[in-house]
Amino acid sequence: MQHSNGYIVGFAAAVCAVCAVFVAGAAVGLKDRQETNRLLDRQQKVLTVAGLIEEGASLAPAEITSLYESSIEQKIIDLETGELDPAVDARKFDQRKASKDPATSRVAPENLAKVMRLPNQALVFDVKKDGELKALIIPIEGYGLWGTLYGYLALAPDARTIVGITFYSHKETPGLGGEVDNPRWKALWPGRMAFNERGVPTISVKKGPAGPPAEDPYQVDGLSGATLTSRGVTNLLRFWLGENGFGPYLEKYRAQAGV
Ligand SMILES: Cc1cc2nc3c(=O)[nH]c(=O)nc-3n(C[C@H](O)[C@H](O)[C@H](O)COP(=O)(O)O)c2cc1C
Repeated sequence: MQHSNGYIVGFAAAVCAVCAVFVAGAAVGLKDRQETNRLLDRQQKVLTVAGLIEEGASLAPAEITSLYESSIEQKIIDLETGELDPAVDARKFDQRKASKDPATSRVAPENLAKVMRLPNQALVFDVKKDGELKALIIPIEGYGLWGTLYGYLALAPDARTIVGITFYSHKETPGLGGEVDNPRWKALWPGRMAFNERGVPTISVKKGPAGPPAEDPYQVDGLSGATLTSRGVTNLLRFWLGENGFGPYLEKYRAQAGV
């Protein structure tokens, strides 16, 4: 039996319409769950970079949330002054959103990390265990080769020694720049120094292998075949550790903590 052209086009259109309704329905219906999973993933990344859980650990959502709530304190700071800003609710604050809104951000000075806008307020994290400060975490972002990498850097209570680094979103090529996610590469970071003795952000990802932290405290192995992503990581770290990023906050913290 042969169908008319009209029937074939109509049938195809009907199939498309049914599929479109199904896909749109799934996208809308699963939005809340996606948001919850995104939040859980961020919380797990923060806990991992703080060294509270193992890289890639498989934890139930309730375990992640409970550990997060008992050990991570989110705080909002004024990025320019580094002062705490208790007027903003840290639980509801979305820094990436704030960075895009002209009412809550400003144009960033030209920089190698290609950060375009700076949020007026920024989110920082204190990691605590038995009431004692174990690490400080700052959000980091900057351009790699294909797009912006977003992640976290954890510093020891001296605000100089690196505890860990992680990225939760990027567009780098798997196997090349995407090796920023490789646990073996991330394991090279703890113990390196973010700042030199004069307080200048000095940490960099070099081309080729670096020595162990004690001998080569300011350099980390480059990602092979991914010099541009490696350079991007150097640029973004130096930007966020510097005067236009979290430099003022870290300086104030050091002065108050006497470290
Ligand atoms: C398909 C494709 C994907 C690439 N992805 C990346 C990447 O994610 N990060 C990166 O730095 N270089 C990437 N490169 C390589 C860069 O173009 C460039 O050659 C490289 O960064 C130079 O690094 P090297 O000096 O270590 O070889 C990619 C190249 C190709 C052809």
